[in-house]
Amino acid sequence: MSDVSSAKSRGDLVYELQDMEEWSDVDADIAITDPPFGLEFDGKAGNYNRDVSRVVDGYVEWETNEYSDKINQLLDVLARNTNANGQAIVFSGKDNSHLLHQMVLDHDTWRLEGKLYWAYNFAPYCKKRPAHNVYELFWMVKGDDWFYSNECSFDHCQEGEANLSVLDIKRNYLKEMPKYPTRLPLEVVGVLLEHFTEPGDKVFDPLAGSGSVGIGAAGLGREAVLGDLNENAKQVFETTVEELENNVFPDHNTSHASLSEF
Ligand SMILES: C[S@@+](CC[C@H](N)C(=O)[O-])C[C@H]1O[C@@H](n2cnc3c(N)ncnc32)[C@H](O)[C@@H]1O
Repeated sequence: MSDVSSAKSRGDLVYELQDMEEWSDVDADIAITDPPFGLEFDGKAGNYNRDVSRVVDGYVEWETNEYSDKINQLLDVLARNTNANGQAIVFSGKDNSHLLHQMVLDHDTWRLEGKLYWAYNFAPYCKKRPAHNVYELFWMVKGDDWFYSNECSFDHCQEGEANLSVLDIKRNYLKEMPKYPTRLPLEVVGVLLEHFTEPGDKVFDPLAGSGSVGIGAAGLGREAVLGDLNENAKQVFETTVEELENNVFPDHNTSHASLSEF
């Protein structure tokens, strides 16, 4: 069974503090990335059910009026840093997903092959009023020779009827973990990796934040190349890897199920 504790092999995990534009020749098999929302967001607003003193600073947001240009740059960065059969999965919240959708359709290299939805529990508001709780994931390819496996080892495929259109995976809000705004659950990352990559593949996330994409990748025997402009994000990543190495969270490194709770 896959085990996130194998992420301790840091040789498989590269994390550089740099602008996404600076990457070249990564030659990844897939890019999985979650860009800023293009809103005023730092994960510290009072509507979030968390102790803001534990949320690190330095998250680099994109201005609403620069969102389209930044997404175009991102699509170019992903295109030139993935190999000829490379794929990309880009996350988007609801506010600007229409712009991302149009830009993928208009892009010279990428072809929109599908769209997935990640339905998650949005803790802050559920008890008070309806909450938007779906991320859209844009799956794009360059040609026709892309890799796909029709089964993963997570509950997603092991329990019930597998459905790759909707990932029904909870975010967790564990108080003991270092907080990073919009940290992706490792289970979401794991499901995508097992469906769209093979062991040994190289995974690229130039907007890595706390590094969930890379930690999940290393845990599943994939290489990862990560970057972010926020040095505090890299620190959260380092702390997380160290804590996993040192078994600080005993429930979080021994079994496959632990990936979903991390
Ligand atoms: C939505 S967050 C990613 C969260 C991440 N998936 C995780 O699990 O923690 C987007 C990240 O992009 C970073 N960022 C914004 N603009 C950037 C740029 N031009 N180059 C590199 N990183 C950037 C932000 O600092 C932020 O950490």
